[in-house]
Amino acid sequence: MKIFVTRTIPEVGLAMLREKGYEIDISPKNRPLTKRELIKFLKKKPYDAVVTTLSDEIDEKVVAVAPNVKIFSNYAVGFNNFDLKAIGDKNIFATNTPGTSDESVAEHAVSLMLAVAHRIVEGDQFVRDGKYTGWDPMLLTGFDLRGLTLGLVGAGAIGKHVAAICKNGFGMNIVYFDIARNEEIEKNLGARFATDINQLLSEADVVSLHTPLCPSTEHLLNAEHFAKMKKTAILINTSRGPVVDEKALLEALKNGTIRAAGIDVYEKEPEITRGLTKLDNVVLTPHTASATQIARDGMSKIAASNVIAALEGQVPPNVVK
Ligand code: DGY
Repeated sequence: MKIFVTRTIPEVGLAMLREKGYEIDISPKNRPLTKRELIKFLKKKPYDAVVTTLSDEIDEKVVAVAPNVKIFSNYAVGFNNFDLKAIGDKNIFATNTPGTSDESVAEHAVSLMLAVAHRIVEGDQFVRDGKYTGWDPMLLTGFDLRGLTLGLVGAGAIGKHVAAICKNGFGMNIVYFDIARNEEIEKNLGARFATDINQLLSEADVVSLHTPLCPSTEHLLNAEHFAKMKKTAILINTSRGPVVDEKALLEALKNGTIRAAGIDVYEKEPEITRGLTKLDNVVLTPHTASATQIARDGMSKIAASNVIAALEGQVPPNVVK
C-alpha cells in the first residue's frame, strides 16, 4: 500500500503506518503544497491513501487524479478543506482527528483572553524596547476576567472546556449560543442558552468562537454584529478565520466599536488583512492553538489509525461524510 503525506507530521503516526509495511512518501517541501503541486505528486504513483492538512483543498480535480485512493485522512479536527461531495461521489472515506486538541485549543483561547486583558504582548514589547524605567502606577492598565460574562459561540467539545476554565478559574458567567442545547454546561457550569446570537453579543464581555466553518458560519460575525457588541467587549477566535469578516473586525478595532481581540486564525491564511498587525489592541498567533505536543501527537496517531482502518477494509472511526 502506498501513502502520500502532504506535510511532515509527528513521527508517532508515521511509525504506525511504517509498522504496517506501507510505503510512505512525504512531501519534501516544508510548506503547504499548491493545488498544482499536489496534483503532480498524486500523479506520480497509484497512492492508496493521502494524509492531508487543512491547507490542502481536496476537490474533484484532486480526487480525479487519484483513482486508487481509498481515504483522505485529514491531520486536523476541522475539515472545511474537503469538498465532501466530490469525495463522497467516488465512495472514498474522508476523516478527521476529533478529540485530539480540545484542551489545547481551549487553553489557547483562554491564553488569548488573558494576554488581551493583561496586555501581556504590549508589556513584553515595552520591556524589550528598553522603555521600562521603573514601576509606574498608570502603566499598561488592563482588566480582570473575574466576574465578567463569557459569550460562547459554539458549545461543543472545545467550547465546553473554555467554559469550564472560565467558570472555575475566573468565576465568569457563561452564556452560549449553538444549534443545540448543551445540558452538561447548563447543569455543571450554570451556562445560559441564548436564543439568538445578537442576545449573546449584547450581553458578553468576552465573545469566544468555537464553531466549525460551514456555509452557515461563514462571516457569522460581520460589521452589524460588532455594532451589537459592548464597546468594552473583546473577541477571541480560535475556530476558523472566515467565521469572522476580517475587514469588519479591523474597522471595529480601529474605531473602538469593540475594545480588543485575540486572534489565532485568519480569513485568507496565511494573509492577514492589512492594518491588523499595526494595532495594539489585538493579540495575534499563527494558527497554533492546537500546537502542543500532546495534541499534535494525538492528531498524528488518529490520522494514521484512520488510514490503517480504511486500508484494512474497515470503516475508519472518524469518518466525516
Ligand atoms: C484543526 O485541527 O482543525 C486545527 O485548526 C489545526 O490544527
